Amino acid sequence: MGRKKIALVGAGQIGGTMAHLIAGRELGDVVLVDIKEGMPQGKALDITEATPIMKSDCKLIGTNDYKDMEGADVVIVTAGVPRKPGMSRDDLLGINKKIMEAVAPNIKKYAPDAYVIVVANPLDIMVHLMKKITGFPKNRVMGMAGILDTARFRAFLAMETGFSVQEINAMVLGGHGDTMVPMPRYANVNGVPISKFISEERIEEIVTRTRKGGGEIVGLLKTGSAFYAPAEAAIQMATAILHDQKRLLPCAAYLEGEYGVNGFFIGVPVVLGADGVEKIIELDLNDKEKEMFATSVDHVKKLIGELEAMN
Ligand code: APR
Repeated sequence: MGRKKIALVGAGQIGGTMAHLIAGRELGDVVLVDIKEGMPQGKALDITEATPIMKSDCKLIGTNDYKDMEGADVVIVTAGVPRKPGMSRDDLLGINKKIMEAVAPNIKKYAPDAYVIVVANPLDIMVHLMKKITGFPKNRVMGMAGILDTARFRAFLAMETGFSVQEINAMVLGGHGDTMVPMPRYANVNGVPISKFISEERIEEIVTRTRKGGGEIVGLLKTGSAFYAPAEAAIQMATAILHDQKRLLPCAAYLEGEYGVNGFFIGVPVVLGADGVEKIIELDLNDKEKEMFATSVDHVKKLIGELEAMN
């Protein structure tokens, strides 16, 4: 039995970091695909030269030819432009749409059986476009956002309480943008509700920081957006699929009636295993959460409208 093959389309900050993580964990062989000549080849060779020290037998190649994705089990797409200070994820819609239209047909052609994880922004729209262009079934197309937003929420809660990040569970639903829905009611320290440790007022402040978490990093980096945490989050999804872990994680999933949403992607808890999005978990939302979720859904719908008007 050969090793699993993971194609990373986009070998930039997130793509390169993911290749490094995959090699370190021996998750599979890596194909880094990018339009920049030499760059994916250079990163693949650099990581290959690290493998003897890392004690990893993974094989990595870099390429400018989509054909090298052939036979990939999982494809992770970060091809796109990241935002600069002052930009929202939505400002990337026009430019990243064109990139997705170049990438998705090639995934359909060369990796027709792959599970596809989309990372490019605006996430909920790019994953919609991926499904539309490839025509892949809904269990095989998903977006990475919820794990990242949740990890940011968990990190802030850990900083606030001083507890280990490992004890802190949380959930963030909705679209990947300013309207996302962090769920403090579902946040706990190893089962103990966070309200026992943090005042309501401070929780609200942490929720706001979580919503703006991506922008905070962009403001600090100035030249691009976050990449370490997004890379970890996408690799957690790939691992859940390749190792059939049945993890319950928030991901952008294609809804057909769940949460009252029909025909597009939004962040919800799903079960991720060997068959991709194996199940969608419907949480009971209270009135305030329902209202925030509806606002987030409306925002995604509006962007889908803008996307369709571009054609
Ligand atoms: N095919 C393959 N790669 C492409 C294509 C394409 N058609 N178009 C652009 N790329 C590559 C770029 O050459 C670049 O190397 O995608 C890469 C993107 O890398 P970065 O610019 O470093 O961006 P990164 O920080 O990795 O973020 C990528 O994820 O989080 C989102 O908003 C972010 O949309 C952005 C994406």
